[in-house]
Amino acid sequence: MASMLFSPFKMRDLVLPNRIVVSPMGQYSARDGCATQWHLMHLGHLAVSGAGLLITEATAVHPNGRLSPGDLGTWCDENAEALEPVIAFCRTHGSARLGVQLWHSGRKGSVTKAWEKQLHIPKDKGGWTTYSASPIPYPGRGVPVAPDKKGIDELVACFAAAAARANRLGFDLIEIHGAHGYLIHSFLSPLTNQRTDEYGGSREARMRFALEVFKAVRNVWPERKPIGFRISATDWAEGGWDIEDSIEFARKLRAHGCDYITASSGGAVAEQKLDVHPGYQVPFAERIRKEAGITTMAVGLITEARQADEILSAGQADLVALGRGMMWNPRWPWHAAMELGEEYAYPPQYARAHPSMRSGDFLKPTRDV
Ligand SMILES: Cc1cc2nc3c(=O)[nH]c(=O)nc-3n(C[C@H](O)[C@H](O)[C@H](O)COP(=O)(O)O)c2cc1C
Repeated sequence: MASMLFSPFKMRDLVLPNRIVVSPMGQYSARDGCATQWHLMHLGHLAVSGAGLLITEATAVHPNGRLSPGDLGTWCDENAEALEPVIAFCRTHGSARLGVQLWHSGRKGSVTKAWEKQLHIPKDKGGWTTYSASPIPYPGRGVPVAPDKKGIDELVACFAAAAARANRLGFDLIEIHGAHGYLIHSFLSPLTNQRTDEYGGSREARMRFALEVFKAVRNVWPERKPIGFRISATDWAEGGWDIEDSIEFARKLRAHGCDYITASSGGAVAEQKLDVHPGYQVPFAERIRKEAGITTMAVGLITEARQADEILSAGQADLVALGRGMMWNPRWPWHAAMELGEEYAYPPQYARAHPSMRSGDFLKPTRDV
């Protein structure tokens, strides 16, 4: 029987050749938000991996929305120009459809790279002002500024401008990053949002900023192209944002034309109590899919072909995203296809790597699967 993993999936006019998504993964290798040769290699090899969709690492919509000085950006035309050759390579040689993740790091920003321990960079050492729903610092980081209404409007406009740039670049899909304790999440969670204006207090009010960002992006993004939203389905902390909030938020997003939700979790507060095991976030994707009636992407320790296929065939999610698993084994989709008895996409240059070719037979390359 044909697998679900290798069945196509359509969102608006975008047809993904299979359900495997490369999850966004920050590389800390940009210069002033501009992609470098590292991105050409990183995104390039993942584009030829056979995955149906490749989503770029989080790209900052403003320089102060970066986490580290090495983060990729979409805040200016120079950033877009630097991404152009990367996208061209992925299009020419790869089969994956291309998504861009748009993001603002909020109160977690102005730190060194991940492998430099994400230490706070003060302003006199090249750091920058950070922003969050309320002026509550993340442990070990600077005190963020809580934007007033004008500041909020400017931040929303940055997301829209980045989306317009992403469209000019020819991306197929946008994922808005509203998870992991970054700016949008800081508004959603009652643990980080203590505002008394129309952006804080009730759940409705805490969702306002996120929905404004979504609507502004939807407004400039072509009708035929999908937009998804990555959320932290729970803060894993008492009194925090939880799955019930996420279901309600997903319903609202769907009503505004959101095409899918990626159900991630955590990141808002340091005292979170994560329960990490294979597929640990899948139940969130399942509940959101069933109770909010929206397409979901499951992510988090999905590493096996059969595990991924079962998530889909059990109706827990429509798409599966792999992060570390794809970095560890960028040919994961090839091997998964083999295991599930499926055809897959690979460049003709690599056709002879297929085990069936070892006897010397020539297998027709199937790039357009
Ligand atoms: C090196 C690295 C960088 C990441 N950067 C991002 C990012 O830019 N945006 C995002 O939403 N998640 C990011 N994540 C989280 C992954 O997308 C993914 O949700 C997480 O690693 C769990 O999936 P996995 O178990 O398949 O790796 C990152 C993860 C890793 C390991």
